[in-house]
Amino acid sequence: MLGRIVDVVSESGRRVAAAHSFSVTDKGSRENIVTSADIENERFLRSRLTSLVPGSAFVGEEGDESPILDEGYTWIVDPIDGTMNFSRGIPEVGISVALFKDGEPYIGVVHNPFTGRMYSAEVGRGAWMDGTPMHVSDRPLEDCILSTAWCCYGKELAPRVFDVSESLYPRINDIRRIGTAAVELSMLAQGAIDLYFEIRLSPWDHAAALTCVKAAGGIFRGIDGDVRFDGPSPVLAANTEENMEVLLETVSEAFDGRTPYRSGPLNGH
Ligand code: IPD
Ligand code: CA
Repeated sequence: MLGRIVDVVSESGRRVAAAHSFSVTDKGSRENIVTSADIENERFLRSRLTSLVPGSAFVGEEGDESPILDEGYTWIVDPIDGTMNFSRGIPEVGISVALFKDGEPYIGVVHNPFTGRMYSAEVGRGAWMDGTPMHVSDRPLEDCILSTAWCCYGKELAPRVFDVSESLYPRINDIRRIGTAAVELSMLAQGAIDLYFEIRLSPWDHAAALTCVKAAGGIFRGIDGDVRFDGPSPVLAANTEENMEVLLETVSEAFDGRTPYRSGPLNGH
């Protein structure tokens, strides 16, 4: 199954990389956009993936809404993660495909069609970058690179996210804001990035990459519980338990130990 998913995602990557003329529309704010290539690729992935697993449900960023099935298979897909990058020709973009089995993560595939990188993982079997086994880093805090974002779809949360960046910055090596959570979390699984924090991600942004993070030996959580796969969620991820402790403590301090929203709109909707 993993090989067949990788084949579909590779084909979708060739289509995305070849999409040179596309229209751009905003989804309610100038930060939150969709292109015709996103919509076209979601259609392609829905048709090819659901025919791989008859009876499977499909959740996609660009309008395919469905509950995650407690019994059976559910796809959680972002056809282009990093749409702003894509729309400007910045080659940091991910096609993100997760397959859940009986409500739990099972397979994750993240592909950057511009670099050719293919991240994949299957629970219980392992995690791979371009077919070679991958593992998170063991860097201590002072050598860590944190990837983060300051909540561009909900800037009222930004000041407290900046507080997190400010507190961590002197204690770690550096910070990145790359613009595609799926790829950045996959880079954590690969061992290139060591810490990740976003205050509000949608399941299609993180489901596939967190499957890779876990299978590559990393850890993730929310602020006051687990990461949610059925709604918006904070995502904290780390290479080691020790570094997760520091990240959680810093985020908890900025957000009073609580997720600062109950459910609310999903990013991209
Ligand atoms: C976004 C990207 C971005 C992250 C946002 C996501 P989109 O996804 O992953 O890096 O900061 O929170 O919503 O809208 O480009 O698919
Ligand atoms: Ca996304």
